[in-house]
Parts: sequence; structure tokens; C-alpha cells
Amino acid sequence: MNKTTPDSILKRKGTSKRIVALTAYDYPTARLLDDGGIDLLLVGDSLGMTVLGHPDTTQVRMEDIIHHTKAVARGVRNALVAADLPIHSYDDAPSGVLNAARLVEAGADAVKLEGGQACFQQMKAITAEGVPLIGHIGMLPQHVQEEGGYRIKGKTAPEREFLLAEALTVESAGAFAVVLELVYPPVAKEITALVKIPTIGIGSGQDCDGEIQVFHDLVGYFPWFKPKHVRSTGDVAGEIGKAVAAYIDRVRGEL
Ligand code: KIV
Repeated sequence: MNKTTPDSILKRKGTSKRIVALTAYDYPTARLLDDGGIDLLLVGDSLGMTVLGHPDTTQVRMEDIIHHTKAVARGVRNALVAADLPIHSYDDAPSGVLNAARLVEAGADAVKLEGGQACFQQMKAITAEGVPLIGHIGMLPQHVQEEGGYRIKGKTAPEREFLLAEALTVESAGAFAVVLELVYPPVAKEITALVKIPTIGIGSGQDCDGEIQVFHDLVGYFPWFKPKHVRSTGDVAGEIGKAVAAYIDRVRGEL
């Protein structure tokens, strides 16, 4: 297999081979997912919840993403490794550029940030420095506190128009792909037809150019919060419970 690059992701647009992406936060998971053939691994700031136990992503800092990006990069040969710029790490263009470079130094092939027009200058500055960028529009988890929860975006006419404009903004800033999170599926389909860069959906229906899921949701490793759109194909939490019970029985001589 060959290393996946931003260009090879871009070239998937309009092909029948959808982009398959997952989050990864550590070496063994990254290595297993890479061996399994996942195209893109994201060191997402969702690690704030899934790994660090915070209620949302707003407490994640650059040091957290750098630490986990280094671990993921050690496990990957082929997948494209993208890393999230956490909240407040791109409040202005110079800090966005500086922090994007720190993630690349940690082993990321690309960075992702949340927002369209509101961070156009930051996106343009990052891509102008030659750092491959993934946009992220729709539900923005870094704004979950202002929003009061996670909800589908794009159902109303103004929201639809806003999202179409946001997608074009991300594209014009030089991103090579855009994540559509919780975008009303007919609007996700429209955006996918509108932009020339691949759309990677999460909870946004079947018509994006690819899909991303949080690894822990996919394999049933975070049973305390399961978004509605998640279809788990594993039960890691259940397997851990069984292994622990068997271990306790063995150690206490009850087997
Ligand atoms: O942080 C994350 O895991 C993400 C994905 C949900 C796209 O941004």
C-alpha cells in the first residue's frame, strides 16, 4: 500500500471509492486501524471526552493533541494523519500558523479546524504556509456550550444558505477536504455536489464523499454517551467487562 496524501484524498472526489476515516489517539489503535486499511486517522479533540474524561472538547489544549499525535504517528505507515487544532489555538492567524506547525512537527500530515467565515484568515494563513488543511462545518463541538447541545444543522432555509456559503469559504481558503458534522443529509448532499473538495460526513447521511466516526463510538468503547447517528459494530466495553470478571475469578481462585 502507498501513503495516503492530501492529494490522494482530494482525487477521491467524484470517484466511487469513498474516504474511510476514524479518530485515533494512541499507538496500538493507530497501528491496528492503519493495518486495517483506514484512509485517514484524525487525532480529534474528541479525545477530551473519549480519553481524558472531560464533558466536551473545550478543555483540550495543544499539549494534549501534540502528545497523542506523536503516539499515533508512531503507529502509522499508510494512513493520512490529521490532527485537530483545539479551541483557542487558532484565535488569530499567527497563532493558527504557529500551532499548525507544532502539530506537523509532532507527526501530523494535515490539521483540522472548526468554522468557515469566522476563521477564514486563519485557514488562508495556514494553507499559505503549505500546511494541508481540513475544514469542519455544521455542528462545531468547540461551540457546544454556546449552542446548548449537539443538534442537526441546515434544516431551515437560513441555516442551509449559511452552510453552503461556509463550505465555499473553506474551499476558497485552500482546504483539501471538509468535515460535515450533523448536517441535515439533503444539505450535505447539496454541499457535496457544490464543492470540488471531498466532503467527509459524520451524522450527515450517506451522500458525502467519505465518512468519519469516533473510534470509541464505532467499537462500543464509550458506553456512557452514544450519539444518535452511531452504529457501533463492536462491544469493547462488554468485552473488557467479561475479561475483568474472568481475571477477578481467576486471581481469587473461584474458577
Ligand atoms: O474531534 C473529533 O473527533 C472530530 C470528528 C468528530 C470529526 O472532529
